[in-house]
Amino acid sequence: MTNVQELVERRERLLGPGNPLFYDAPVHLVRGEGVWLHDADGNKYLDCYNNVPCVGHCHPRVVGALCAQAGTLNTHTRYLHENILDYAECLLNKFDDGLDRVAIACTGSEANDLALRIARVNSGGEGFICTNATYHGNTTAVAQLSSIFEPVGGYGDNIRMVSWPDSYRAADGLEGEALADVYADEIETAINSLEANGIKLAGMIACPIFANEGLPNIPDGYMRKAIDYVHAAGGVYIADEVQSGFGRTGRWWGYEESGVIPDIVTLGKPMGAGHPVSGVVARGELLDNYRRHEMYFNTFGGNPVSCAVAMAVLDVIDDEGLVANAAEVGDYVLEKFKELQSRHDMIGDVRGSGLFFGIDLVNDRETKEPAADKARTIVNAMRHKGVLMSKIGEHDNVLKLRPPLCFSKDNADFLAATLDEVMAAV
Ligand SMILES: Cc1ncc(COP(=O)(O)O)c(C=O)c1O
Repeated sequence: MTNVQELVERRERLLGPGNPLFYDAPVHLVRGEGVWLHDADGNKYLDCYNNVPCVGHCHPRVVGALCAQAGTLNTHTRYLHENILDYAECLLNKFDDGLDRVAIACTGSEANDLALRIARVNSGGEGFICTNATYHGNTTAVAQLSSIFEPVGGYGDNIRMVSWPDSYRAADGLEGEALADVYADEIETAINSLEANGIKLAGMIACPIFANEGLPNIPDGYMRKAIDYVHAAGGVYIADEVQSGFGRTGRWWGYEESGVIPDIVTLGKPMGAGHPVSGVVARGELLDNYRRHEMYFNTFGGNPVSCAVAMAVLDVIDDEGLVANAAEVGDYVLEKFKELQSRHDMIGDVRGSGLFFGIDLVNDRETKEPAADKARTIVNAMRHKGVLMSKIGEHDNVLKLRPPLCFSKDNADFLAATLDEVMAAV
C-alpha cells in the first residue's frame, strides 16, 4: 500500500495550501492506457472524466510522435520548421472558411489572454462580457472573466457578467425563443451599462456549450441573438473551445451546434492530449491587424515537439473516427442515463452533447432544489467502485462526465450499471 496521506502532506509542505485534489480519498495514479487508469495499489478505474487525453491515455501514436521529434530537434519558434506549418494547415482545414489564421501557445489561459488582446485591438474597446458561472483561465486579464473564482483585487468596471442560458431552471417556465430573448436581452443591457460608463465593448467570451456552467440545453436562437448584439456594438465573439473542441460534442467544434461562427476560437486541453499546447484561431484580418500592433512571441508555443504531438492527435482523431464515435456512443450513453432517470428521483435532468454529459441532481423534482450533497456523495462512491467522474455547475450539483473519445458502448454499460448501484444506495 502506498502512503496516500504521506503524499498529501508532502504536497502541502512543498506546494503550499490551495492545490485542489479530487475526491475525499485522493487517487494516486501511476499508469494509463485508453480509457483506463491505474493507481499505485493496483486498482483500475474507468476514466469518465478526462477530456485532455482525448484519444485515450498514452496513445502509442502520440507518444511515438513526441519521442521521435524530441529525439531529433526542439527549439523555440524563431527558426523555420515545417511542423508548425503542417499543423496549421491541417488544423485550419477543420474550420469554417473565414477562420484562417492561427497562433500557437501553451495553455488555455494563454490562448484566452491573447484572444482578449486581439479583441481589444480590433474593436478599440475595453469592455468584456462573460457569464456568471464560468471559468476561462488564470492570467490576470482572463481571471477577470472567470466568475467561479473572484480575482485578487476584484473585478474591473469593464467587466459585465450575464446569466448563463439555463433552460432547466428557467425564469417563469419560459422556453425556446421566448427564453432565448430573456437571456439575450441581458447582453444588450450589459452593453448599454458599459456604454453608460464610457466603455466601448471589445467582445464576449463564452464556451459554446457552456460546459463549466452545467452544460445546459441552450434555448433555440440564443447564440444568434446574443452575438448579434455583440456585433452591433462593434465587439467580437470569442468561442472558448478549450473544453468543447476537438470532437467532444460529436462535431469538431462546439460552436457548430448553434451554427454561429465565432470571430475568434480558443483551443487547449485536448489539443496535445496532455502535452501543453493551445491555440487561437481567428479571422485572418483580426489576427493580422493585431500582429501589426503588438509583437506576440511565445518561447514554447508552436515548437517542433508540440506541433508533432498536436498533429498526431489530429491524425488519430481522424483515422480512428473519434468524432463519429463521440456522436454514436454519446447518444447511447444519454439513453442509458435517461433510463436511470426513470428509476432514480434524484435525477432531475440529463443533458448531453457527444461525449459530454451533465446529470442534474435534485432533492425534489417539483422544486428542482439542487442536491449538491448527493452529487458529492455519488462522485466519491463511484471513485471507490472504479469509475472516475466529477461535478460542476452554478450549484455544484451536476455530475460531470467527459471520457476520452475512444469510450465504447461496453464502457458505457459498465458506467451506467455502476451509477445505478451507487444511486440506489444513496
Ligand atoms: C473553458 C476553459 N477555458 C480555459 C481554461 C484554462 O485552461 P488552462 O488550464 O490550460 O490554462 C479552462 C480550464 O479548466 C476551461 O475549462
